[in-house]
Amino acid sequence: MAKVKSVFVCSECGYESPKWYGKCPSCGNWNTMNEEVVSKADNSSVVKRQAVYTKPVSITEISTTDEHRYITGISELDRVLGGGIVKGSLILLGGDPGIGKSTILLQICRQLTKELKILYVSGEESKRQLKLRAARLNAENDNLLVLTETDAQVVAEVIREDKPDMVMIDSIQTMSISELSSSPGSVTQVRECTNYLMRVAKGLDIPMFIVGHVNKEGSIAGPKVLEHIVDAVLYFEGDKQMSYRILRAVKNRFGSTNEIGVFQMSESGLEEVQNPSMMLLSGRPKNVSGTCVACTMEGTRPILAEVQGLVSASPFGNPRRMSTGFDYSRMSLIVAVLEKRAGYYFSNTDVYINVIGGLRLDEPATDLAVAMALISSLKDTPVADNAIAFGEIGLAGEIRSVSHAQERVNEASRLGFNRIVIPYNNLKNVKAPADVQLIGVRNIREAFDALT
Ligand code: TYD
Ligand code: MG
Repeated sequence: MAKVKSVFVCSECGYESPKWYGKCPSCGNWNTMNEEVVSKADNSSVVKRQAVYTKPVSITEISTTDEHRYITGISELDRVLGGGIVKGSLILLGGDPGIGKSTILLQICRQLTKELKILYVSGEESKRQLKLRAARLNAENDNLLVLTETDAQVVAEVIREDKPDMVMIDSIQTMSISELSSSPGSVTQVRECTNYLMRVAKGLDIPMFIVGHVNKEGSIAGPKVLEHIVDAVLYFEGDKQMSYRILRAVKNRFGSTNEIGVFQMSESGLEEVQNPSMMLLSGRPKNVSGTCVACTMEGTRPILAEVQGLVSASPFGNPRRMSTGFDYSRMSLIVAVLEKRAGYYFSNTDVYINVIGGLRLDEPATDLAVAMALISSLKDTPVADNAIAFGEIGLAGEIRSVSHAQERVNEASRLGFNRIVIPYNNLKNVKAPADVQLIGVRNIREAFDALT
């Protein structure tokens, strides 16, 4: 029997060491070194690699015209992928349990099994459960093959035998290679299974989706290791309590990573939300202080979202600051600018910021809406219901111009906003749509006066 030895592997970055550390020497995370048992024969070489003799070719001889994409017909997903699923690509789909990963995979199957043979490998659910879900999603089709298996080598064998047109692996944490002695879900298993399945799929030019669960820090187990291997990484985000979900690409070798897809979970699966601004603004309170609508660009698409601010007297000497959906340090900076440059004081007050709908605003153009929500709450003066503001706030309290001003103005106007406050320097390049009052502002005080 092979000698048993153990190695400590960082669950964040995959760093291996014969010795335990409290803090990973490679990525610096605490308490991430987990013991994994490996037998002597183990190492990563257990998965035999075939040496294939290949020749270099001149880059001009490589043709790109045959890059074939499967269009899923789920337009939000196609956009995030950069225009459909590229043949032979490996796509990692991450997200919290229950967010809808298995649901969207089955919906892709529903669309594509009309023409393609798809193998759905599930290590989590029984065939019966899958059948029930497929029936509910109306995804039953002779072309949808179901395999409940957790041994990656068996799965690979089935892929080689059956040669499906696409493979879904749900999830990679349940897969294992029996020669490796570490348990399923460990970094070694996840990495080796992904590598192993990838070689089979790439060899046959089959696109493959891999579901990866997210750990409590919000990343896929061994994320660094996996992100290097795969072609695209998609994350499903959103509040489980809320019905809508945001699909975001954090890596994409075949498209941009700026696009998001918006879905809503319904009785019959995930539905695309074609008009996210309208959804995010529905239920917006009228004529109350402390809210302002922001406009952020997600890729090529402007999206409107409501920012709420709450400023309340702080009972203790140490005021609280809290921010959801907006960067905490950016909020502190805006508060400091408001105090120093505009004369609004928050030193004896708690400050809370919340972006409605689970959206994250990380674009400087949303600064102005955040500042306006805070001032509105501080002064208890509502921002007009038909008004919206965007602009970046500089440290001198000036409002700086932003990109894509025209697109933002058009989107705001489309949703019925007719008083649009924009940076003064953007004014000359923007055409006002009919019935819209465009107001260019130079500083925070001007902006607030224009909005109330
Ligand atoms: P699921 O796809 O199983 O999540 P994951 O694979 O990411 O863990 O999502 C399941 C959740 O979605 C579950 O809470 C039930 C809900 N759901 C619906 O509301 N409608 C539906 O049609 C389906 C299939 C699921
Ligand atoms: Mg699932």
